[in-house]
Amino acid sequence: MGRVWHVVDLAGRGSGVRQNPVMGYTIAAMGAGDHDRVLAAGALFDNPPNRDLVSDFLRRPGHHLLLAFDPGGVPIGFVTGVEVAHPDKATELLVYEIAVAESDRRRGVATALLGALTEVARAAATRGVWVVTEPDNDAACATYRSIGARPVPAVTFDWDVAWRPSSGAEGDPHR
Ligand SMILES: CC(C)(COP(=O)(O)OP(=O)(O)OC[C@H]1O[C@@H](n2cnc3c(N)ncnc32)[C@H](O)[C@@H]1OP(=O)(O)O)[C@@H](O)C(=O)NCCC(=O)NCCS
Repeated sequence: MGRVWHVVDLAGRGSGVRQNPVMGYTIAAMGAGDHDRVLAAGALFDNPPNRDLVSDFLRRPGHHLLLAFDPGGVPIGFVTGVEVAHPDKATELLVYEIAVAESDRRRGVATALLGALTEVARAAATRGVWVVTEPDNDAACATYRSIGARPVPAVTFDWDVAWRPSSGAEGDPHR
């Protein structure tokens, strides 16, 4: 797979926080210790984020979470990306999830988040970026097409795995 995404040019490079001069939105890469900022953005996620899972995600190498904030500092979008490696292939970046608050959609926030994540992928020397979405998710498909991503025909399968807590772990975070 070649490079998939076009890079969106954002000002303020190099600080981990990028300001989009057009909209006044800020995109910030979350690091270890940023749990509270992620928890404060909980309404953007499918489920309320769990503090332990947030910490675990933020600590894992190659796991990226970017938050978008409006000019008032309110979180209005996020994207997560995970670097995937393989013995015979260059590392790639999977866009795990992206969401923008309904009130802030169609303003380029997802485009800006994907542009920032692409910069992360480039900095990590990954070969390309890929994402899976449902064919009837018109907004997501329009967003990925608009940044120049190519649709790749594929069938997705998944199956369940009985989860057993490792020694010392409490409860099943997926239940
Ligand atoms: C998909 C989603 C993240 C897009 O966020 P967004 O900030 O509104 O997207 P943008 O404003 O950056 O739009 C990007 C492009 O897609 C187009 N687009 C966005 N939503 C659209 C819609 N509902 N119908 C048609 N086109 C749409 C925009 O017009 C824009 O095109 P352009 O560059 O030619 O002008 C948002 O709709 C969302 O959060 N959906 C629910 C969560 C979801 O489905 N996530 C995807 C999981 S894979």
